[in-house]
Amino acid sequence: MSRTSLTGFPVGRLTGTVGIAGLVSLTLLYFWTSLLTNCPSQRRQFKQLSDGQHEEKNPLAEETLGKPVLLLWVWPENYRFDLSDCKTIYNIDGCHLTDDRALYSSSDAVLVFHKAIRWYWYNLPPSPRPSFQKWIWLHVESPTNTWKIPGIENLFNLTLSYREDADIPVRLRLTINKTPNEDFKIPKKDKLVCWIVSNNAPSTGVGRRNAYYNELKKHVNIHLFGKAYGTFLDYKSYYPTIASCKFYLSFENSIHKDYITEKFNGPLSAGTVPVVLGPPRKNYERFAPGDAFIHVDDFPDAKSLAEYLMQLDRDEDAYRRYFNWRRHFSARPHLIVQNQEFVLAICTACDHVARHKEYQEAHDIYEWFFN
Ligand SMILES: *[C@@H]1O[C@H](CO)[C@@H](O)[C@H](O)[C@H]1NC(C)=O
Repeated sequence: MSRTSLTGFPVGRLTGTVGIAGLVSLTLLYFWTSLLTNCPSQRRQFKQLSDGQHEEKNPLAEETLGKPVLLLWVWPENYRFDLSDCKTIYNIDGCHLTDDRALYSSSDAVLVFHKAIRWYWYNLPPSPRPSFQKWIWLHVESPTNTWKIPGIENLFNLTLSYREDADIPVRLRLTINKTPNEDFKIPKKDKLVCWIVSNNAPSTGVGRRNAYYNELKKHVNIHLFGKAYGTFLDYKSYYPTIASCKFYLSFENSIHKDYITEKFNGPLSAGTVPVVLGPPRKNYERFAPGDAFIHVDDFPDAKSLAEYLMQLDRDEDAYRRYFNWRRHFSARPHLIVQNQEFVLAICTACDHVARHKEYQEAHDIYEWFFN
């Protein structure tokens, strides 16, 4: 199956992200949270105490109290990360994120990973759920790579997806510069066109992009990297490799509205011009300025695209114009270590539950997702 997502660039295994500090605070958190579970009613009392009269100040308690509890029911793909990453990486701190199922009955929201319930209905949290609790459907794949699991269409309160019309849309967005940035320097280039491909399984919908690639390579030299082509790239080489190319093929595996993934963010953040294949140009322009990328649909065929790229190779000024947007916007690198593939999605959910307390039901999620 495809491993494509908004946040991950899967090429290998992570070796240890949980630092000593993380372990220590997790341990403390464990004791704290088990105290809370044993005595669920105390949670509310502590909340009130923390609003003023609480004398003995426990710094950890202060941090956790009053925040909605977000329970990660299963670790997506079993990719475990340090739960404090939300704070350290994205400065998201509004919920108490936990994977401790003992907290189920006091959890304000529960994250359920769609793929994990694929085979086993009983991978779902127990019903009935507490009346205040919201279940979040966590799914960042495109419809082409989604298994319909019958019976869960009306079970959730919130959808989490790359789709902009999800209840919780997940995306690493460009940020607006407070003052125009005049310092951007285009990284040194020694290759014209590059492509990193980790997945080439036909079932994942890659037919269109492969056909386009096969045509394009007849007219321009393309440097290939990645699992699918036997040239393994380690994490450290991902951004430098993309940066060393003038153009990068940001070809999505399947074509769906808003399905614009880290394949697009990679070159934007590395200082390379993305050549995109995916939903229409208008859709891309919701997320990045129109002069930040080249769309394959801008050309009648692959040959004319190749000619245009070679022309830009000779015309330094014209090439440079593809970076004008950087005066006003900045792109941030996405996480590329495999075990961090779902960090952004989970942290975005945390941020959402901290801000939205209203009652909500999500009905017919397949009707919405597939149509
Ligand atoms: C969550 O959704 C379920 C199923 O539609 C519904 O029964 C429940 O009342 C909802 N709860 C909240 C807190 O929104």
